[in-house]
Amino acid sequence: MAERPASGPGLGIVRSVDALRERVAAWRRDGARIGLVPTMGALHEGHIALVHRARSLSDRVVASLFVNPTQFGPNEDFARYPRDEAADAQLLEAAGCELLFAPTVAEMYPPGFATTITVGALAEGLCGPFRPGHFAGVATIVAKLLLQAQPDLACFGEKDYQQLQIIRRMVGDLDLPVRIEGVATVREPDGLALSSRNRYLAPDERARAVVIFHVLKVIADQVGGGSRSIESALAWGRGELAAAGFDPIDYLAICDAVELTPLTILDRPGRVLTAAWLGKTRLIDNLAIAPA
Ligand code: PAJ
Repeated sequence: MAERPASGPGLGIVRSVDALRERVAAWRRDGARIGLVPTMGALHEGHIALVHRARSLSDRVVASLFVNPTQFGPNEDFARYPRDEAADAQLLEAAGCELLFAPTVAEMYPPGFATTITVGALAEGLCGPFRPGHFAGVATIVAKLLLQAQPDLACFGEKDYQQLQIIRRMVGDLDLPVRIEGVATVREPDGLALSSRNRYLAPDERARAVVIFHVLKVIADQVGGGSRSIESALAWGRGELAAAGFDPIDYLAICDAVELTPLTILDRPGRVLTAAWLGKTRLIDNLAIAPA
C-alpha cells in the first residue's frame, strides 16, 4: 500500500521516519498533544482500547504497525505472524486514529544497525528465560518508536505485563520525555484475553484456553482474600492448567507488581502471571492481586 496524505479527514499512512517526523512536527507546531500506540498489527479490540485511551488523552493519535523481527526467537512465529495491513488500517481509522506509521524492516534496521537496549533484572524472570533476546528486541524497537514519533504519551496493554514494566523502567532510566499509559486487558466474554495469536487456536484449544483466566481469577481471589497461601494456590493452578492440556507450563508465578520478583507472602501489591502452551500456541495472561 502506498503512502496516503494525512491532511484532512481519514487515516494517513507513512512508511519513513522522515515522513512520520514531518507530520508530527506540523501537528506539534499547532500545539497538538500527540499519543502513540505501538503495535505489530493483526489488530483486535485490545489494540483498539489503546487507541481509544490515546484518543481520550491527546489531540492526535499515531499508531505504528511493525512486526519487529528482533523480538522473535529463531523458532518463533515471525514468518507466520498474521499480517493484514488493510484490515488494520480500517480498524484504526474507525477508532479515530489519524496516522499509521508502517515502516519496512530496512527502514527500522538499516545495514550496520548495532545498538541494543537491555533492561536488566526485570527482563530476566518470567518470559525472559523462555524467550532469550525478546525483551531486548522490544525495548530497542520501543525506544526507537518513541524517539521517532516523539509523542507526549504512549499506550501499552497490561496483557503484556512484563513488557509494560520493562518499558516503564526504560523510559525512567533513560529520561525519555513521554508518559507511559498502561491499559487494562480486554477479554472475550468468557474471560480469554484477546490476542493476535488466538487465531492460531483450533476450536477445541479455544474452548480450553479459557482455563487460564479461571485459574488466574481463582488464585487472585483466594490469595488476595487471604484464604489460601501462595504456594498452595500455585500448586493447585499448575494442576488445573495441566489437566486442561497446557503443556508445557512455562511459568505460573505471583510477583511483586512493579519489580516482578517472586513473592512467597502477599505483603504488597502483587500480580499473578502465567505463560503456557496449548498445542503450538503460547498463551500469556496476568491479573492484579491486592493484599486484603
Ligand atoms: P502487539 O502484540 O501487537 O501488542 C500491541 C499492544 O497491544 C501492546 O501494548 C499490548 O500489550 C496491547 N494488547 C494486546 N492485547 C491486548 C488486550 N487483550 N488488551 C489490552 N491491550 C492489549 O506488544 C507488542 O505488539 C510489541 O511487543 C510492541 C510493543 C509493538 C513492540 O514491537
